[in-house]
Amino acid sequence: MKKDWTHLLERMSDRLAPSMAKDHPNLPVIKEEGCYYYGLNGEKYLDFTSGIATTNVGHRHPKVVQAVKDGADSLSHGPSGVIIYETILRLADRLAEKLPGNLDCFFFGNSGAEAVEGAIKLAKHVTKRPYIVSFIGGFHGRSMGALSVTSSKSKYRQFLHPSGSYQIPYARIEDCPEGVAPVEYVTAKLEKDMEQLFDHQVTPEEVAAVIVEPVLGEGGYIVPPKEWLQKLRELCNEKGILLIFDEVQTGFGRTGEWFAAQTFGVIPDIMAIAKGIANGLPLSATVASKELMQQWPLGSHATTFGGNPIACEAANAVIDVMEEEDLLGNSKKQGDHARALLNRMKEKHPAIGRVRSIGLMIGIEIVDPVTGEPNSEGLFEILDLALEKGVLFYFGGNKTEIIRMIPPLSVSKEQIDEGLRMFEEALIEYEKKHSQVTLV
Ligand SMILES: Cc1ncc(COP(=O)(O)O)c(C=O)c1O
Repeated sequence: MKKDWTHLLERMSDRLAPSMAKDHPNLPVIKEEGCYYYGLNGEKYLDFTSGIATTNVGHRHPKVVQAVKDGADSLSHGPSGVIIYETILRLADRLAEKLPGNLDCFFFGNSGAEAVEGAIKLAKHVTKRPYIVSFIGGFHGRSMGALSVTSSKSKYRQFLHPSGSYQIPYARIEDCPEGVAPVEYVTAKLEKDMEQLFDHQVTPEEVAAVIVEPVLGEGGYIVPPKEWLQKLRELCNEKGILLIFDEVQTGFGRTGEWFAAQTFGVIPDIMAIAKGIANGLPLSATVASKELMQQWPLGSHATTFGGNPIACEAANAVIDVMEEEDLLGNSKKQGDHARALLNRMKEKHPAIGRVRSIGLMIGIEIVDPVTGEPNSEGLFEILDLALEKGVLFYFGGNKTEIIRMIPPLSVSKEQIDEGLRMFEEALIEYEKKHSQVTLV
């Protein structure tokens, strides 16, 4: 029996730094299992956040829990630079099989930001070039190097002035003028934006790498056409610039394949992976070919905790579960099902703007029904109402206009139906309160 900790909750705002968002939902939880969180007072919540796209095989999957216990019984700390252990080598072997192309050599860290830091450092070491290009609206983490390529919200960068990078616009099909083919529009725009950057701000010979999220995550779940990523690959090749995919959020089945690189058929030179890798235990990796990694000088990058043996045990179990339960297949199947339901719902509820998704990475835009403008106030009201009914969603988007639906990849059709039923009830209640008409 857990001790009563309500008195601790009362002091939370004094004890925990307010810089960590606690505006929504700040949910006191005592247990997690499968697709559910269990609240302090006996509530049961269907979880459509997966701890921000992390517990992909389901909360506390028994196989992962067992692997963690086995790991703790034998070896709980490395570092892999001092001792070496079987789990980290086995994990590297198995990941190399799942990753596309020649991405087969790993630097293990603890977090997404660290994986991105590693990618940036590797690219600069290999090319001996000082700058990185990233995309407006992208999120790559909050350590200073990762932040230097992050621009999803300017408040993340305020007073910190991270430097060493240039930003260009992401693929936005929605901005395509009428009468123009969207794929041609975004690919031509990318070419032009790059050309302008190289003409006016930095020479291509000074750019070590371009870093991109293959699907814009925190920035609003924007899914580019594969041709856009192919064009980016082409342009990098032409200029001898390395291409980094930040697959921290898109990796491990989120888009319906192991990695978005496979979904889009584009292979980067370097990849950053984290989140789903160990189902919630802190683990990440910077990945590249052995040939590229060999150019990273000995001792120029290292870690105390990265590649922790228990986390590696968990990650090996995650790969087993993904295969045994066909979670890639389920990601596509339930993703399609959820998207169809949401598109039907959109017809009835003018508060829903665009629905954008790939696999189980689903963004539901919340807009003002009259103006069609992003409505982040309304979004939080809807999220609160949904939570009261028993389903937890997350938020996102550069203007906080997107509800993120990112359930564990093990989610069932019944759970999708139940969660979206509660979501629609929340929408109806919101619309009633604001006297908006639900269309029939
Ligand atoms: C695409 C992407 N990159 C990097 C990060 C940073 O990961 P972490 O919070 O583990 O440092 C995130 C986190 O949400 C992310 O979505």
